[in-house]
Amino acid sequence: MKGIILAGGRGTRLHPITRGMSKQMLPVYDKPLIYYPLSALMLAGITDIQVISTPDDLGGFRRLLGDGSDLGLRFSYVEQDKPRGLADAFLLSADHIGDSTVALVLGDNIFHGAGFSAQLRQAAADVDGCVLFGYPVRDPERYGVAEVAADGTLLSLEEKPAHPRSNLAVTGLYLYDNDVVDIARAVTPSERGELEITDVNRAYLERGKARLIPLGRGHAWLDTGTHDALTEASQYVQTLEHRQGVRIACVEEIAWRMGFIDQEACHRLGRALSASPYGQYVMEVAAAG
Ligand code: DAU
Repeated sequence: MKGIILAGGRGTRLHPITRGMSKQMLPVYDKPLIYYPLSALMLAGITDIQVISTPDDLGGFRRLLGDGSDLGLRFSYVEQDKPRGLADAFLLSADHIGDSTVALVLGDNIFHGAGFSAQLRQAAADVDGCVLFGYPVRDPERYGVAEVAADGTLLSLEEKPAHPRSNLAVTGLYLYDNDVVDIARAVTPSERGELEITDVNRAYLERGKARLIPLGRGHAWLDTGTHDALTEASQYVQTLEHRQGVRIACVEEIAWRMGFIDQEACHRLGRALSASPYGQYVMEVAAAG
């Protein structure tokens, strides 16, 4: 399965911070925001990942992530010259996807929770159609909203409905079979002028090939869309990391635990960052074995 991280957009809701830098580069406590969605892809077992961003911001991501070989990954980069919508990702990454299945994650989505990686790996192993992840929220009108029958069957999908049929938001992590490229090519811009991911998902729903995995109370799907939400996300990560002594979305540790790199390589990556507590942590976990 191939991976895509969509990390463009204007970040206008976070102005003035994002006038000078990309939203997905902002710190969430001890690491850049993009590490969190990157971790989700890595935990799904995905190693070949394309990063999509704006012409202005792509250089920063290249500097941060490089070609991925340090982490046993392969990163490639594509420009999105305008925010044409989330479904544009499949058009921009058509060559990267080739004849594979694909996971798209939004570069500003943070997932955390017990059993999440096992659930993700299992879902990624047999994608037939599309797999979405649902999360109950207080303000569903801000998101894609799913309506699900009592037996778990997906009934409807709507993008930011004024009158949501449920409180189940569709999160920014999507798994697809290879039809997604053709489906995205057939999508036309919505009233707000964007190629909507919800239209792609609805095409799968109409074929009877969309499934939604509910993420329950034991999971966190954190918002990063406002100044307050971003601060709260940092506080959440800080609280858990201080309390448990383990780091969330530490990509070096994940690369090692997933078997993408060996213990020695992990230790070396930590040493290169050893002036920071983050780097010291990477060295410690590698040394502990
Ligand atoms: O976060 C989950 C939600 O993401 C879903 O529930 C919605 O169905 C989906 O439409 C999307 O809603 P948002 O309103 O959050 O989308 P937004 O336009 O903010 O874009 C999400 C991220 O993708 C944001 O970090 C910017 C980036 N982006 C967005 C667009 C439209 C791009 O990189 N390129 C784009 O063309």
